[in-house]
Amino acid sequence: MDASVQFPSRLPRVGTTIFTVMSALAAQTGAVNLGQGFPDFDCDPRLVDAVTEAMRAGHNQYPPMAGVPSLRAAIAQKIERLYRASYDRDHEITVTAGATQAILTAVLAIVRPGDEVIVIEPLYDSYVPNIELAGGVVVGVPMTEDFRIPWDEVRAAVGPRTRAILVNSPHNPSGTILRDADLRELEAIAVEADLFVISDEVYEHMVFDGEPHRSASSYPALAARSFVISSFGKTFHVTGWKVAYCAAPAPLTHEFRKIHQFMVFTVNTPMQHGLARFMEDPAPYLGLPAFYQCKRDIFREGLASTRFRLLRCEGTYFQMADYSAISDAPEAEFAKWLTTEIGVTAIPLSAFFQHPVERGIVRFCFAKKDETLRLALERLAKL
Ligand SMILES: Cc1ncc(COP(=O)(O)O)c(C=O)c1O
Repeated sequence: MDASVQFPSRLPRVGTTIFTVMSALAAQTGAVNLGQGFPDFDCDPRLVDAVTEAMRAGHNQYPPMAGVPSLRAAIAQKIERLYRASYDRDHEITVTAGATQAILTAVLAIVRPGDEVIVIEPLYDSYVPNIELAGGVVVGVPMTEDFRIPWDEVRAAVGPRTRAILVNSPHNPSGTILRDADLRELEAIAVEADLFVISDEVYEHMVFDGEPHRSASSYPALAARSFVISSFGKTFHVTGWKVAYCAAPAPLTHEFRKIHQFMVFTVNTPMQHGLARFMEDPAPYLGLPAFYQCKRDIFREGLASTRFRLLRCEGTYFQMADYSAISDAPEAEFAKWLTTEIGVTAIPLSAFFQHPVERGIVRFCFAKKDETLRLALERLAKL
């Protein structure tokens, strides 16, 4: 192929992600992969049955653009039950191809060239390129040492060009959650400065120790300007299905759908029917905190006798660990060494910053079978 065609990249700073690099290294070396965030166990067989039945029943053509009505109704019902917020399934809920598409769609719906968007670092890797694709300017505010949002600094970062704030709770990679006071601060800032909020809540059902998940949808003045995004991939252990949703007031959803319509148009039909049927029983998502808390505790107890210092894990399926008593290597180097020499893969925290800082911390994913966690712990016990 003639490779002489040259053109400027829309995303010149984007390369292969560390997740891909570390997963490839894990596969090559036979390491236990606690890097990338996906379960190594199957979903509930009733969910597979429900999708299979939907296919056999002939639900195989384009669904409505906004999503299958029964799934939108199930989502509205779930939000009402958990967060006491009322979203109209016809005008305020859109089914998307993963949360990744929902976040990009929300960004494209509101960010105009030159608009500033505040993000909190460390952050999920799609946020910055999404804002850049919309022609926006990323304004990063670092979390505090203990991974809380410094609201005074967020306030100070708001200027005349600020258009939106993007938040994520439960937070990947830190495992911290936003509390009531945080949501109230966010609401006050967004209202005062007339900002949109994109609230990435994909780990909403993984919050531990009896704490509730605080959703932007529960705070009326905040919900009025928020795109609230969650992911069935995370909730039902089916990350490969790429089905998620965005809940937002009708005027926001109206603009959101204009982009959605020409980005993907629709999301695969049988999965939507299957998910709607499966959600008739709330037990699977209501039981998720206990399910993952058990895995968190196995993992934390297993690491307690090592020289890792474990950071707080209030939610998500990620555990951060400080390795400074083991090594003073930079994070990426330590993560590679851990993979090749110890046989366990982790992700360096520095991968979640625009301008990497080194704190001697790596992130482990504990969404794994108990035997996978035990094998990893056996290997890590040497440390
Ligand atoms: C914080 C966060 N947001 C969004 C996503 C993407 O979710 P989905 O797989 O539904 O696109 C992830 C996946 O890892 C994530 O960690």
